[in-house]
Amino acid sequence: MGDAVAVWAVVVAAGSGERLGAEHPKAFVAFGDDPLVAASVGALDEHPAVDGIVLVVPEGWEERATFMCDEIGAGKVAVAVAGGPTRSDSVALGVAEVPDDAALILVHDAARPILPAELVDRVLAAFADGADGVVPALELADTVKRVDATGRVVETLPRTELRAVQTPQAFRADVLRRALAAPDRASGTDCASLVERIGGDVRVVAGDARCLKVTTRADLERALELRSA
Ligand code: C5P
Repeated sequence: MGDAVAVWAVVVAAGSGERLGAEHPKAFVAFGDDPLVAASVGALDEHPAVDGIVLVVPEGWEERATFMCDEIGAGKVAVAVAGGPTRSDSVALGVAEVPDDAALILVHDAARPILPAELVDRVLAAFADGADGVVPALELADTVKRVDATGRVVETLPRTELRAVQTPQAFRADVLRRALAAPDRASGTDCASLVERIGGDVRVVAGDARCLKVTTRADLERALELRSA
């Protein structure tokens, strides 16, 4: 993308993270010396293609989040706002704070603390082909089956056609705004699925195994190991 294109990032950090069993929301559990969310906010702040950042946090954590951004010197963070009941609601509340002149919006899970600069580069570079959205994705090691409520296998999906998608997911700002306006947005577990529903052209690029989503304590430890590797 040319330099003139404004790129904003929305970091969603408003989940409760119950599976971590911590007393803080997941994004604010300790990750080394800082809260978990500081790692990806810091990476986006340092990335030269990112012009501004909106941080979405649990209600009541806005001030602490702003303080944290000051502490880590993340000067591109324009605002920290409260999220909503689902991830899609949190994304929509964040996107509402992105200025109108932003051409592209990157949406990133705070739960993915390891965000290599080259992953952001790869996602942004793929817009050159005219996509509406670009998502990083990994091939699967496991075979995936569809099962019914009783646990009976209904179907085995062809593994070579399947991908596990990560964040950051990037979209043309106007397309993402339209996708998020859908009344059934809550059922979308990622932004790309909402863009797909309105007929958007979403492409995948190679993901990065280091960009794992922290869900359990073991994931947190693994991410810490990866950071110091
Ligand atoms: O719940 P899940 O692991 O899919 O969350 C992915 C990301 O979305 C996390 O960074 C989490 O903080 C964020 N999220 C949010 N608002 C919600 C639910 C999840 O910002 N209501």
